[in-house]
Formats: sequence, structure tokens, C-alpha cells
Amino acid sequence: MNHLQGKTIVVTGVSSGIGSDTAKLLRQQGAHVIGVDRKDPLLSLDGFVKADLSEQAAIDAALRQLPAHIDGLANVAGVPGTASLDLVARVNYLGLRHLAQKVAERMPAGGSIVNISSILGYEWPARADLHKALAETPSFEAGLAWLARNPVPHETCYQYFKEALIVWTLTQSQKLFLAQGVRMNCVAPGPVFTPILGDFVQMLGHKRVEADTHRMKRPAFTDEVAAAIVFMLGDDARWISGINLPVDGGMSSTYV
Ligand SMILES: NC(=O)c1ccc[n+]([C@@H]2O[C@H](COP(=O)([O-])OP(=O)(O)OC[C@H]3O[C@@H](n4cnc5c(N)ncnc54)[C@H](O)[C@@H]3O)[C@@H](O)[C@H]2O)c1
Repeated sequence: MNHLQGKTIVVTGVSSGIGSDTAKLLRQQGAHVIGVDRKDPLLSLDGFVKADLSEQAAIDAALRQLPAHIDGLANVAGVPGTASLDLVARVNYLGLRHLAQKVAERMPAGGSIVNISSILGYEWPARADLHKALAETPSFEAGLAWLARNPVPHETCYQYFKEALIVWTLTQSQKLFLAQGVRMNCVAPGPVFTPILGDFVQMLGHKRVEADTHRMKRPAFTDEVAAAIVFMLGDDARWISGINLPVDGGMSSTYV
């Protein structure tokens, strides 16, 4: 029993893929789910806020429509590296971080934030100092200004901002847990059958994809990833904070 009955959980990226299945599973377990996405949802929800999570003003407007009490936040919305560098930075990192910081203020002890990283963030230790410096920037605007001074190449920006997300989550989580009893973790999927899987193939190139194919059984189904996110949101994970949990059918273990 993961004690999600009656809890209010916000799920971003709710209109497709992993976010959609996360919302469905949460509702099956009795949670009150409010979705956020730039596209309309294709499933039943308890509430929905349409918002472009790449814009701080749009996130602030969404926050005004979200409840004053929120028990959980699943930050699932994301774009692949085939999108522009600016969009990847804004959606996958700056906007996610801004929403998480503001929602955390509304959470009681026992609250949980789950940020969807990726197996492609596994090389974060190689750039830990840069990611820590970005993590220290206090706001969306300050993050943008830092990135203007420390440019990121477009070809690897998806990996860069997933790495940065892992480092931000790990470095901020204990402050949150000690001060408020709110947990924050990442879930790191390997390849998943969703509409953006083809974008990852384009982004990584066929050589890398071919090599990775031999490291895994198959891409995950969305419900396999959603189950881990729901576990991390619930009370069964109450002593798990500040981790990046791979949900990749063992694929990341093959990089050792
Ligand atoms: N599919 C994979 O292989 C894979 C692997 C590792 C990590 N991930 C991560 O999982 C998360 C979910 O991806 P998915 O595969 O379910 O993709 P998806 O495209 O099926 O879903 C992403 C959702 O995010 C929403 N979104 C994108 N930009 C937005 C914005 N600016 N404002 C509001 N909503 C926005 C989209 O409308 C969509 O509903 C992403 O963070 C992605 O990076 C995916």
C-alpha cells in the first residue's frame, strides 16, 4: 500500500508517453491528479492546466491555477535534443527547476518531487563543477544569464541538461528534506517506447543506437517507467531522497 489515496499530485507532460501513464496509475491508486502540459490531455484527470513550461511567466500563471496544497510533483515534461538548444535548456532544466521550487513551498512534510532525468545523464561526474555552478543560480533568469556566459553545444545539450538536472536534484534535495521533510529524487529511464524515441535515434546517430541495442533487451514500456515514478511519489519511498534511480532494464549497468 503506497498511501496515495486522496493525495494531490501534479504531473507535467501529462498529455503523452510517460506522463500520461503516470497520471493513470496515480488515479488508479486514489490520487487526485492535476496535469500540466502545452497540449490537451487524452485521458481523464481531476484537473488540467494548459501551460508552456518553457516560459517563466507561463509557469507563474500555471502556479496561480494550481492548488495551495500539493503532496507530489512528477516533472515529466521534456523535449528531445532535436529541439532547439534554448528550448531544451528551458523545458528540461530551467522551467522544471522553477516549477519544483515554487511547488515545494506548498508541500507538507512527506511531500515528494520526482524529476525525470535519463540514462543519457549518466556522465554527470565529468562536468560536476559546471553543473554545480549552474545549480547555484537562484532563478530562471539567472540560469539563462549563466548559460549565456557558459555556452552549451547543441549536439549534446540534451545530455548536458539531464546531467545538470541530476546534479541540481542531488545538491538541493537534502536541504529540502532537512528543512521541510520533502523528498526530491530523479528517475532515469533508458529508451522508452514514446513518440520521441525516433528523435533520440536521430539525436544519437545510428552507430551509437546500434551499439546500445546490444546492451538492452528492448526499450521500456511507459507503464514500466510510470510504476517507478509512482513508487517514488508515495510513502513506501519515504526514506529515499536525493537519488537518481535508473529504470532501464539494466542498461546503465553495462557502462561500468
Ligand atoms: N522516451 C524516451 O526514450 C526517454 C528516455 C529517457 C528520458 N525520457 C524523458 O522522459 C520524459 C517524458 O518523455 P516522453 O518520452 O514521455 O515524451 P513525450 O513526447 O511522449 O511526452 C512529453 C510531454 O511533455 C510535453 N511538453 C514538452 N514541452 C513542453 C512545454 N514546453 N510545456 C509543456 N509541456 C511540454 C509534451 O507536450 C508531451 O505531452 C522527458 O523528460 C524525456 O526527456 C524519455
